[in-house]
Amino acid sequence: MSSYIINLSEIEAKVARKKIRSFSKKSLKLQNTIDFPEYFSNVKEETNEFGEKIIRVDGDIPIDLPVHNGDRFLFISYDQTALTHGLHKYPAKFFPELPRWLIQRFSKKGDLVLDPFSGSGTTSLEALLNYRHSVGIDVDPFSRFISKVKTTALNNRDLDKSCDQLIKEVLHFRPWFIDKKDIPDFPYRDNWFNREIILELACIRKLIDELNFDSNIKNFYRVCLSSIVRSVSNADDNCTRTVIRKRLNKKVCSTEALTRFVEALLINVPKMKEFSTLCDPEIRVEFPEYNDARHIKYPDNTFDLSVTSPPYANAVDYPRTHQLEIYWLGLANGSLTPLKKKHVGTESVNKHEYKELHRIGIKEADETIEKIYQKDKRRAYIAYKYLSDMQKNLKEVYRVLKKGSYYIIVVGNNKIRGEIFKNWLYIMKMAEITGFTVENYFGSEIIKHFIKVPREERINTDWILVLRK
Ligand SMILES: C[S@@+](CC[C@H](N)C(=O)[O-])C[C@H]1O[C@@H](n2cnc3c(N)ncnc32)[C@H](O)[C@@H]1O
Repeated sequence: MSSYIINLSEIEAKVARKKIRSFSKKSLKLQNTIDFPEYFSNVKEETNEFGEKIIRVDGDIPIDLPVHNGDRFLFISYDQTALTHGLHKYPAKFFPELPRWLIQRFSKKGDLVLDPFSGSGTTSLEALLNYRHSVGIDVDPFSRFISKVKTTALNNRDLDKSCDQLIKEVLHFRPWFIDKKDIPDFPYRDNWFNREIILELACIRKLIDELNFDSNIKNFYRVCLSSIVRSVSNADDNCTRTVIRKRLNKKVCSTEALTRFVEALLINVPKMKEFSTLCDPEIRVEFPEYNDARHIKYPDNTFDLSVTSPPYANAVDYPRTHQLEIYWLGLANGSLTPLKKKHVGTESVNKHEYKELHRIGIKEADETIEKIYQKDKRRAYIAYKYLSDMQKNLKEVYRVLKKGSYYIIVVGNNKIRGEIFKNWLYIMKMAEITGFTVENYFGSEIIKHFIKVPREERINTDWILVLRK
């Protein structure tokens, strides 16, 4: 029994230390810079190690920041864990300042904003905080679940009461509370998790289910639970794929799921409360089921703005990334292949599909696809299929946008079988064929890749395409 004694004040002290650390990050100093226009105090011009001009913006991006074709920006974000933004990790998530700026710059209060590849719902959350209605489309039920929680205001008194109750009950955990039927069954469960962790996660899940509060509150706690699942599994914490790496020798101790969950509550409940006080209940946010970025079930000329970051070809396998969380949330319990097939950029393709070389009709893209085809027919088809799906998305967004409105796409390059696949360039060309005018395109440096590697190896710039209907 002694192994289950958990000290709440130790967890509280750890959370307090984390808060101090994240606060001190905010006092980052600028060096070797010259002022950009004097009136933007947080905008500076810098030169990187390749002698290239980079415009650095610290924090909120000024709405009327001058932007020229081909400009490259280094946006330093401070809000990635503000309010409900940091509730759950998500690969290739927007930093909030970017959709915030685009929404403020290209729409007005009361407008309707669309994100057709909405992921963890960053665009919708920023739309809500900026008094715009929004629709976030994603084929992945996990994405829709966390997005809904992040954008649903809760009653602060109920939150306090339910949180106190949950912490008290979690601290009283005893493994014999758990019945076999409380433990979800999913492929390789006992390899992914140690026995005691399975019992702890099952206990937390059961305690949430049994709370006498409304489903929005319970779903918030379910997302808090989901946010710790990877860290208490035997899988590598820092890989987008869910894999166990023997050489990491990851050790997960008993009580770790319980303590991490309590920690997640102590961090996220105050943030959820702050978010809830800022929400205007008149603003609508939807994450509709049975929609797809290639088949948007909304009438023509519905939206005032669309902002998105689509997946990359052959890059992140989202269902595989979130498989453990999906299973613990009860969103699936068997094969994820049918879900994978719905994803733009999927690697789930059939042999008969890639026997022949397929062309998309954009010279630069077809040359690259052909080079990939010489090395790997399957990957060439994946790349082609990705562009063909993005072509469908461009047509759909063009249809549902109002005339004169903008579609803003944030996309980078990636490498497929050693060939640089210039997503942004091919998408820009396809957008023109679809009928969009390319009003502007500019780069956003990805800070964690801002390192010294040969120029051609760098895939560290996301390109922001400003398309107008
Ligand atoms: C790069 S992520 C978006 C991240 C998002 N900007 C955020 O801040 O969290 C791309 C998303 O596209 C979704 N997706 C893939 N195929 C899709 C499709 N056919 N229709 C809608 N969404 C899709 C994936 O599930 C993933 O969540």
